[in-house]
Amino acid sequence: MMDVILYIHLLAATVWIGGSVFLFALGIFLRDKDAQKRVYFYVGPIYGYVESVWLTILIITGLWMFFHMGLQNVFESDVERLPFLLKYKLILVALITIATIVHMYIAFKTNGKERTKLQLLLSRASSMAIFLLNLIILWFAMQIRTLL
Ligand code: HEM
Repeated sequence: MMDVILYIHLLAATVWIGGSVFLFALGIFLRDKDAQKRVYFYVGPIYGYVESVWLTILIITGLWMFFHMGLQNVFESDVERLPFLLKYKLILVALITIATIVHMYIAFKTNGKERTKLQLLLSRASSMAIFLLNLIILWFAMQIRTLL
């Protein structure tokens, strides 16, 4: 059972991170403003729904493993860097979830409309945060797996 959950967790991580890298690349390389507007108008909402489902799966499977592997007491132990890594992975996941909610709120509210300066800033900052946090979370996840 643990193998299946880890498999789903990894599948969710690849889809979630892959999607975010792809959309980030689209934002950079699709320079034609008109094409960009149209692509985001149609692809944006589908992407948003698909990605939020996979993030939810990531969190559920992650928590499932955490409790079924008996890691609840890990924060009190001083075995190597495991408590530190797990604690920070969880904090980073909380931050990425907040950034995702902010990003999606603006995206759905303004899809196909002009954005205010503040909406534009928040939208760009949150997408950059999601992109960078993912890279760090992946590093933490890899380190955790090595120690378990
Ligand atoms: C954005 C969210 C997340 C991402 C991208 C992510 C990514 C990953 C990846 C890539 C691995 C496999 C590491 C490897 O095989 O080297 C992993 C393992 C793991 N994740 Fe997550 N994860 C996320 C959220 C969570 C959450 C919320 C928890 C809850 C505590 C969690 C708990 C775990 C555990 C316990 C393992 C290790 C399983 C094992 O080694 O057998 N993850 N995660």
